[in-house]
Formats: sequence, structure tokens, C-alpha cells
Amino acid sequence: MTALVDLLRHPVVAAPMAGGPTTVELVVAAGEAGALGLVAGGYKSAGALGEELGEVRRRSPHPFGVNLFVPGAPAADVEAVAAYLRSLQADAAAVGVALGEAAWDDDGWDDKVQLLVGDPPPVVSFTFGCPPPAVVTALQAAGSLVLASVTSPPEAAAAAAAGADAVCVQGIEAGGHRASFSDAGPGGLAVLDLIAAVKAVTDLPQVAAGGIMGPSQVRQALQAGAVAVQCGTAFLRSAESGAQRLHQQALADPSATTAMTRAFSGRWARGIANRFVTDHGDAPAGYPEINNATRPLRRAAAAQGDTDRMSLWAGTGFALARPWPAARVVEHLCGDLP
Ligand SMILES: Cc1cc2nc3c(=O)[nH]c(=O)nc-3n(C[C@H](O)[C@H](O)[C@H](O)COP(=O)(O)O)c2cc1C
Repeated sequence: MTALVDLLRHPVVAAPMAGGPTTVELVVAAGEAGALGLVAGGYKSAGALGEELGEVRRRSPHPFGVNLFVPGAPAADVEAVAAYLRSLQADAAAVGVALGEAAWDDDGWDDKVQLLVGDPPPVVSFTFGCPPPAVVTALQAAGSLVLASVTSPPEAAAAAAAGADAVCVQGIEAGGHRASFSDAGPGGLAVLDLIAAVKAVTDLPQVAAGGIMGPSQVRQALQAGAVAVQCGTAFLRSAESGAQRLHQQALADPSATTAMTRAFSGRWARGIANRFVTDHGDAPAGYPEINNATRPLRRAAAAQGDTDRMSLWAGTGFALARPWPAARVVEHLCGDLP
């Protein structure tokens, strides 16, 4: 089977960014620039995802991938989730909405897996868990390469045991949600240390993610043993990004910093440290229940321009994100490579 790097002219993957930032335009532009664009399958119905794949195929002859969320278990501590949501009432009232239902869901897992097995993209990537071996085998038999996101050596070993073709090693610098299989603690290794630690447990090719914004970091990741890098924040302000205008503006604020938080979704994620993040440092584990409950609040905040109550996902390198076409971002990342 074709190796991941053989699909690429440049060793760059444009990270899947669910919730709006990843557009068809971004995936197509990444492919045209010789990188790999990953369609964000999270939060979408299988039907909507299928339509998006059709559009990517119509508009681009280049390889691309699709990213899915592996479902986890319902929240273990229902009372902690309920108590946390009661503590958000004042925020919800401030933007004039009621919180949504704290419902568990599996993000349409079976339907999306079936869609991809029936109409396989060149690459399928996973986050939030280890894809079951039967799913890995079915996707590979259909012709896809399987890329499993991991945040630790034990997760990498589990991905290897499940039969993945490659791992995306996500360092602590990364923007957005942690890819971890469980939601234990906000800590983790920096990406260069993670590459070395994962190399000790598996020979699988590694794609390095987290805080990679420029050519020197790309070179370091490749020298450490990665075959490619996966960048999200570097594309958030690109011309093809679907990130909300207020989100893009927040990334350009020189006084901003990032923090790891569970406040918006019940799962650790890195974003700009705004008031909601500092006010709700006590949020319990409870994904996707808390994410579903806070959705109306986050939507209303965005509609009202209230950046203090929006999730503004960003990696540690956000200050280096530039408002360039995605092709220029790819060129910049690879500027130094032989
Ligand atoms: C806004 C945003 C949304 C993200 N959404 C997803 C997603 O849907 N699936 C996924 O596997 N990773 C997602 N990630 C994480 C990226 O895959 C990647 O690990 C991360 O962007 C790398 O760090 P960087 O942002 O510093 O480049 C997201 C990241 C950001 C910034």
C-alpha cells in the first residue's frame, strides 16, 4: 500500500479543524499546494460529510483525508456535570439563552465509518480514541491509509496494536482538543519529546503536531524522526479558513495567551485564555455532554461579538499565524527543506 509520505509533495498535513475552520476550500488549497488536506468529519452528519467529500473530489484531483471522532463513554460523574452546568447559568443569561441538553452522543460514528468504507478517501484519521481493529481493517481493505492521533507512548502502542498505518503525535503545544484516548489530566509531552518517546514503542511513521508554525520547527520535527507535520493554528487565519472573524482577530491580539481548559466542552483543549476559561477552571470531564450543553451559549456569544464567552482554539504558536493563502503557509513551512 502507498505510504503516507508518497501522497505528498510537501511533508505537511493541514489539520482537520471541526466546527468551521476547515473548509472545502482549505482542503483543496492544501492539496494543490502539495500538502494533505484533512476534511473535518466531526460534528457533521454522515450525509453532510458525504456531500463535502463529493465536493472535494469534484474540485481537486489531489489526495485528501477525512478525520473522525472516536466516541467515548458517557460522563462518569453525572452529578459533577450537572453542578458545573448550574454554575454556567449566569453566563447563559448574559447572552440571553438557556443551556442545551447535556446529552451524550457518538457523533454519528457507525454511519460515518460506513460512508468512508463505501467511498474510501486516501487517508482516514482519528482523534479522541483508538479506532477499533475491525474498523481499521475495513478501511484498509477499502483502500484507505489509517492515521491515528495519539498523545502518549501507551496510546501509540495501542494504535499500532489496532493496525494503524501511521500515528499523528500531538504535543502539548497543540491548539484545539487533546486527541487523548481518555480525558485524564491536561498535561502531556512537548511534541519533540513525544516523537522520541513514541519511537521507543513503535516503528510506525509519525506525523508531528503541536505549535508548528514555521520552517525551523518543521525541520526539527523531521530531524527528530517525524515523516511529516500536521498544522492547525498556522492555517486558522489563512484566506481559505472558515474560522469566525472574531476568532481570527483574537489570534492577532499581541496581549493574548493560551491555556488548557475543559470549560467549554468537558474535554481538555487549548485556546485563547478569555474570561470564560479563567472563570471556569473547575470544569469536570464530560465530553460531549458539556459541549452539547454549552453550544447555544457559545453560538449566542459569537453572534453578539462576546469573545469572552467564545471558544477560541489556538496552539501556543498562534502569534505566528498569518493571513496568507494556505499555499503560502505551506510554502513558508517548507521553506528551509532541501
Ligand atoms: C480550531 C481547531 C480545531 C481542531 N479540530 C480538530 C478536529 O476536528 N480533529 C482533530 O483530529 N484535530 C483537531 N484539532 C487539532 C489538530 O489536529 C492539531 O493537533 C493541532 O492543530 C496541532 O497544533 P497547532 O494548532 O499548534 O498546529 C483542531 C485544532 C484547532 C486549532
